[in-house]
Amino acid sequence: MRLCYLYTLFLMFFVVDFASAQNARKTENFNTGWKFFLGDDTTAKQAKYDDSRWRKLDLPHDWSIEGKFDDKNPTTQAEGGLPAGKGWYRKNFVIPASSKSKNVFIDFDGVYHNSEVWINGHYLGKRPNGYISFRYDLTPYLKFGARQNVIAVRVDNSDQPNSRWYTGSGIYRNVWLTTTNKTYLPQWSSFITTPQVDQQSATINIRTVLPGSVNRELKLKASILDDKGEVVGATVSAVKDTVIQQGIQLNNPQLWSVNHPYLYKVKLQLIAADQVIDDYTTTTGIRYFSFDADKGFSLNGVPMKILGVCLHHDQGALGTAVNVRAIERQLQILKDMGCNAIRTAHNPPAPELLDLCDKMGFLIMDEAFDMWKKKKSKHDYHEDWGEWHVKDLQDQVLRDRNHPSIFAWSIGNEIREQFDSTGVSIGRELVKIVKQLDSTRPVTSALSDADPKRNFIYQSGALDLVGLNYHQEVYADFQKNYPGQKIIGTENMSALATRGHYDMPSDSIRRWPKDSKTPLKDGNVDFTVSAYDNVSAYWGSTHEETWKIIKEYDFLSGLFVWTGFDYIGEPTPYLWPARSSYFGIVDLAGFPKDVYYMYQSEWTSKPVLHIFPHWNWKPGQLIDVWAYYNNADEVEAFLNGKSIGVKKKNGDDLHVMWRVKYEPGILKAVSRRNGEVVMTTQVVTAGAPYKIQLKADRSKIKADGKDLSYITVSVLDKNNVPVPDVNQLVKFKVTGRGILKAVDNGSQTDLDPFVSNQHRVFNGLGLAIIQSKSVAGEIIIKAAADGLQSARLIIESAR
Ligand code: GAL
Repeated sequence: MRLCYLYTLFLMFFVVDFASAQNARKTENFNTGWKFFLGDDTTAKQAKYDDSRWRKLDLPHDWSIEGKFDDKNPTTQAEGGLPAGKGWYRKNFVIPASSKSKNVFIDFDGVYHNSEVWINGHYLGKRPNGYISFRYDLTPYLKFGARQNVIAVRVDNSDQPNSRWYTGSGIYRNVWLTTTNKTYLPQWSSFITTPQVDQQSATINIRTVLPGSVNRELKLKASILDDKGEVVGATVSAVKDTVIQQGIQLNNPQLWSVNHPYLYKVKLQLIAADQVIDDYTTTTGIRYFSFDADKGFSLNGVPMKILGVCLHHDQGALGTAVNVRAIERQLQILKDMGCNAIRTAHNPPAPELLDLCDKMGFLIMDEAFDMWKKKKSKHDYHEDWGEWHVKDLQDQVLRDRNHPSIFAWSIGNEIREQFDSTGVSIGRELVKIVKQLDSTRPVTSALSDADPKRNFIYQSGALDLVGLNYHQEVYADFQKNYPGQKIIGTENMSALATRGHYDMPSDSIRRWPKDSKTPLKDGNVDFTVSAYDNVSAYWGSTHEETWKIIKEYDFLSGLFVWTGFDYIGEPTPYLWPARSSYFGIVDLAGFPKDVYYMYQSEWTSKPVLHIFPHWNWKPGQLIDVWAYYNNADEVEAFLNGKSIGVKKKNGDDLHVMWRVKYEPGILKAVSRRNGEVVMTTQVVTAGAPYKIQLKADRSKIKADGKDLSYITVSVLDKNNVPVPDVNQLVKFKVTGRGILKAVDNGSQTDLDPFVSNQHRVFNGLGLAIIQSKSVAGEIIIKAAADGLQSARLIIESAR
């Protein structure tokens, strides 16, 4: 081993100095300067087409989010009732004469959906799957020098309904232009694994597949860079075969984990006659993990629970157009709650989500499909299954397999084939496809039939990990019923809540009835759901019910709460005008619902004391006061200075409760450990709405035309107390070096558009999302509402 390391070092010095990189690949972002037309015009594929009247825009772009909510839209309420249809994108561009001897590729990270692409009038192909990344080779059709090229993309999302949630429409992910030499490392051609890892050393294996046509005089150099960019290991191999296996040993490696997400880079250089003719850098992390039928999950030898949430891909008011800061904010909010894992429900995610999870320390369950051959909605992916599922699954695994965050592949969510014997054959086929490309991670499927004898996907014997959706009632007996199997809760809870809405009393649990066609029995006329964790879908549970079980048994490796954030669409349990989901721990605008603090008290060690509801009720009304707390043995609550009792969690309790006759004033709570005060908090009765307050999550952003500042809009009384039950219209004016990108308030039923300069607050809170321009300077945000003192906030946008 030592010798191998020295040899590696020797080669590293031998090669590094003489190989220069000026001729290697160039990857450019291809998002700017597009033209867009909402509608269909088949002649728009022609090179000479006149698009001068089309709208100018930059990608990523989701045209649905710009539209109006309407239950007559063919997307239906399930997709949030936003419009879909067809659209065209075109872009003119030049390619320098110096690229004549090169290859030029266009890489789409994802287009929803049925995209077709033409370059200079030549048809490049179609890709039905709206979540998959794909590449076309532009080389044979390009013009060089000053001559214009035109790329045309047709997107057809008119085949509705095709989803059970909001998908967005258009080129909603990034587009890249990659220029390489004629001999190059093909896309996704290297697979990096760490077959041997311990605290003292790790072996990094790099397996690269080159096309058969490649010249055998080449060398492939692989270098490992630490997080400071220092080379810490390297090796060079002669390219003798189409498959090149390289191994590099590192001493004292820094391991990747959710608390210490240390990343290395692997730099690959293809070398011909001492010149680097292609290079490609990818991120890697050194970690090992295992699932054990008795002990559950462990990462780097340390047992831990997978504390996950499922996420759909929309970013609330921004729709599905990818924005790195929007995804990062979502992950930060979840990280603060103690969440350490994400399930990409129910499709391949944006690459940026995976990059952020690598960097921020989240485990990922990377999911492929929501259906196989059998449909869930009329025009969903089942129509493309026959022709595309092999290629789509292969491409997903090839694209994503180098991410250290990914710990499992899911071949499907609640697939209908689990109920018949095709579940066996297709299940085996898909697992085989994954394993051929990556045998280092377990493959699971999110099963909704928990009977091992009846479930054909389970019966296929192909799954490494049993993924159960809901059915928490079978968890305790899992080991008996599934002998020797390992389990993860792939989807749990489906509890329902509206942020800031409370129905009394709170101590009985209500399930959404089985007849899914009717709204929640005894539902609220304003289509709200109480935020005391006591309402759930009939197939699920409250948050507390399932977490208590997962917590109790070591063999239960973890869970994925449905869902981390509310998402557009699937507004169970209500009919229109409900248009977004109630399942989130956090609302659509990113404001935590109360149960967020239950998780925080359980999933983190930071001190938590959260009491609710707000303190604006009718005098004499009986109010249930709940507290989530940790790091303490008791909580005492005081109403206007008078103790209303000391409460302690007993047994497996996750909260305490007082039932109090309401009187206005101050409700205070104090948590104590061994008699010492740990935390104090209070809710105060608000007076009449008096003024608006604006608070930025970041008061300094980057002047790159992409970065975002999320501004929380609150309505306060004269004494700066937040008014909890106000729903007033607020008008915004944004000037300077930024724009108002979107507005929201987290309400599940508000049909006013997200792209607007005004919006109501909901239960006292609103959100304005500000985006920088590419020029640095101040951004001034003004907010005004009838009868309220207006507010002004300045944020800085800098280079
Ligand atoms: C599950 C399904 C999810 C979502 C959820 C709502 O059965 O997998 O996609 O529909 O129900 O409770």
